[in-house]
Amino acid sequence: MTITQADLQFDRDHIWHPYTSLLDPLPCYPVVSAQGAELILNDGRQLIDGMSSWWAAIHGYNNARLNQAAKDQIDQMSHVMFGGITHPSAIALCRQLVTMTPPSLDRVFLADSGSVAVEVAIKMALQYWVAKGQQSKSRLLTVENGYHGDTFAAMSVCDPVNGMHELFSGVLTKQLFAAAPQSRFDGPWLESDLDSLIALFETHHHTIAAMIIEPIVQGAGGMRIYHPNYLKAVRRLCDQYDVLLICDEIATGFGRTGKLFGHQHADITPDILCLGKAITGGYMTLAATLTSQAIGEEICRTKAGVFMHGPTFMANPLACAVATESLTIINENNWQHQVAAIEQQLKSELAACLALPSVVDVRVLGAIGVVELNCAVDMVAIQQYFVEQGVWIRPFGKLIYLMPPYIISQAQLSQLTGAVYGAITELP
Ligand SMILES: Cc1ncc(COP(=O)(O)O)c(C=O)c1O
Repeated sequence: MTITQADLQFDRDHIWHPYTSLLDPLPCYPVVSAQGAELILNDGRQLIDGMSSWWAAIHGYNNARLNQAAKDQIDQMSHVMFGGITHPSAIALCRQLVTMTPPSLDRVFLADSGSVAVEVAIKMALQYWVAKGQQSKSRLLTVENGYHGDTFAAMSVCDPVNGMHELFSGVLTKQLFAAAPQSRFDGPWLESDLDSLIALFETHHHTIAAMIIEPIVQGAGGMRIYHPNYLKAVRRLCDQYDVLLICDEIATGFGRTGKLFGHQHADITPDILCLGKAITGGYMTLAATLTSQAIGEEICRTKAGVFMHGPTFMANPLACAVATESLTIINENNWQHQVAAIEQQLKSELAACLALPSVVDVRVLGAIGVVELNCAVDMVAIQQYFVEQGVWIRPFGKLIYLMPPYIISQAQLSQLTGAVYGAITELP
């Protein structure tokens, strides 16, 4: 499969890419195949992937086992509606999800994407309080610098400054934002981190349905890695003030932070858990929202009698079959050694960046490495530089970050960290 110049021009003229202007689109690199930790460009160049296609492709591309799972399933059926019907792939996947997540989370809703899983989680929380006759508990509490997706309820809990609040002010529901925690994951715990959170709980708890948070690592809202004590306190305050806790593990789930789930760093259990991205090893779109039997049953005690959500492609069998195999690979537990080794290597190889004048911070947790600069990168120039170095790294704003597939080799990872250092030292 190849891409011609005419194809690229068509793409430029007609196809929208994420967060890209139609008036002045950034260049797009044509990828025609991918293998292991590498993307292969139209002209045959191979790029080592530092992004895992946005946290997703943890087992690498063109994975023989995931391919086989997809092929086996497609010969049975690609899709069937989930209303009034069930199928083996959904059952197998949900069995795994229920086993891998905390015991209390035993009710699974399969959604089409991360953003939809967040919508579902929020709707569950709202419907729960309606069922309990407490309609006034209808707002969400969250922290600044969060990111939860691009649909409307999800956007309403994204960071109010770097999210889309200004653009859609008047349309987005006004939610409550606590100051983002300042205590670093590996630094001292500052009790003052809780001041604004406690004040919001005290003042508004009667109107708060749920608190939503990305456990330990705030992803697209700033790649911040915070102290587990903050998450412990969030759980305590939610219990104290009768507020549901939604953990959005769409980015952090399935080993990325060094634990199977980010919330395990704080030894807490959420009331509602959102999973996505790596669930299918990045093969196709699928997400899940889990809650407890008690919450699930309460939700169904509203006048409606059911949970009011049901996407056409809910529990798509192809996606479920691949996800089941992806989770089987996870359960073989190689990820623990892989992620631990990546963490050690990122720590030792990115440390040199800290001495550079334009670098304000370097932080690493699990298979996530972040270099924060003192000013935003020039996207076109840096992207071109990375491709010339044979790597695929896509920074945003002041952040250059790596979250490679778990199967990356030591040499490949060194090429990624070397390119990060090179970009900071060599580009103007
Ligand atoms: C924490 C978190 N929640 C939700 C989402 C939205 O997921 P999706 O892009 O699949 O809709 C993302 C995507 O980056 C995410 O990182």
